[in-house]
Amino acid sequence: MTTAPLPPLPTRPPSGCPFDPPEGLDRLRAEEPLSKVALDDGTWAWLATRYADVRAILGDARFSSDTNTPGYPVSGMTGGGPRPGATRGFIRMDPPEHTRLRRMVTRDFMVKRVEELRPTLQKLTDELCDAMERVDRSEHPVDLVKALALPLPSLAISLLLGVPYEDHETFQRLTGALLSREISEEDRGAARAELLEYIDRLVESKKSEPGDDILSRLVTERYDKGELTHEDLVAFAVLLLVAGHETTANMIGLSALTLMLDRDTAGRLREDPALIRGAVEELLRFHSIIRNGPRRAALEDVEVGGQLIRKGEGVIVAVPSANRDEDVFPDAGRLDIRRPNAQHHVAFGYGIHQCLGQALARAELQVVITTLLRRFPTMRPAVPLEEIPFRTDMVIYGCHALPVTW
Ligand code: HEM
Repeated sequence: MTTAPLPPLPTRPPSGCPFDPPEGLDRLRAEEPLSKVALDDGTWAWLATRYADVRAILGDARFSSDTNTPGYPVSGMTGGGPRPGATRGFIRMDPPEHTRLRRMVTRDFMVKRVEELRPTLQKLTDELCDAMERVDRSEHPVDLVKALALPLPSLAISLLLGVPYEDHETFQRLTGALLSREISEEDRGAARAELLEYIDRLVESKKSEPGDDILSRLVTERYDKGELTHEDLVAFAVLLLVAGHETTANMIGLSALTLMLDRDTAGRLREDPALIRGAVEELLRFHSIIRNGPRRAALEDVEVGGQLIRKGEGVIVAVPSANRDEDVFPDAGRLDIRRPNAQHHVAFGYGIHQCLGQALARAELQVVITTLLRRFPTMRPAVPLEEIPFRTDMVIYGCHALPVTW
């Protein structure tokens, strides 16, 4: 007996609206909310598309985040699969190790700490906007991705970790290569090695000359007491850089573009800046930039939404689908910055691995959007929407470039 081949994991938005979730997710959510999908390496995984099932999976300790767990779906993931143990950050660990390591940095990312950073974020944003204003736009439009969306989160995380500013371009190049799904394994390996080498040197420098940053604190409070190894420190830095940089950058680009196209919403936000918090939640829900994850592997047989997932089987949760689930977000395809429950989105995940940097990401988005609306009220795309290169080839959705003028 032959069986029909499984459909592939949906990753591309439908032609027409680049802001819509990957094609096919709506149908799966309605008809087969836990369905089997084929992965590029010839394996398969369950794809969960309903909000309730996504939260059930991410909130259940019987699903492992460890890429070494049998059945973990590694195909097409960030970095192209499991990393060597030394750089396996706690995002890919289960308790108790995950709990131990995450606790060491929780306070650095708490709302109170991030609020202290807000004036610095504003200052950095203003400086980047000043530089944009100085550009002669008569020949070339400004690329908002290069001018603002990439540098701001890079600078923010660099400050937290104590990465020198002059190195941030190297980071953008290397983290971009790690996240691409279309470069060769060889090139990805080379980028990973270069980033590791750099971070290794950075950690070494914190041991001899500690400063006022997370890495230095981990060195003096944990490494010196034997609670962390050199490799643990490197893994911390890699995780925070990779997780905090490209994600926020893409949300900035997509949010700016959305508001340039939706003049009514932009106008309302400009008139009443107090709406910004709700607007950022709604933009996070609406765009759901993590396009094919988070992922898990079942440690035992678990029933989710009436479907038995067996021990050793892999699961991918479709965040863009969960965040457009009409049972939770009525009229989910519409951007509504006054949506009362937008903050219930799962764009930052859910459960014990829920995004550590969410307060920072929120603050960056709030500052950038408010500043752009105030300083560049007439900003608009400098090319037709069809000519904007969307990142359909990347794990994290967004725009590769966003030419703008004003
Ligand atoms: C985890 C999304 C910004 C650091 C996660 C997860 C998601 C996510 C979905 C859960 C992964 C899982 O369950 O396997 C986002 C989005 C961001 C963003 C959409 C921007 C809009 C940041 C920033 C940082 C950060 C600015 C700061 C460094 C982390 C870390 C984890 C994580 C360390 C792992 C948490 C754990 O495993 O306990 N993020 N993130 N993220 N994020 Fe973010």
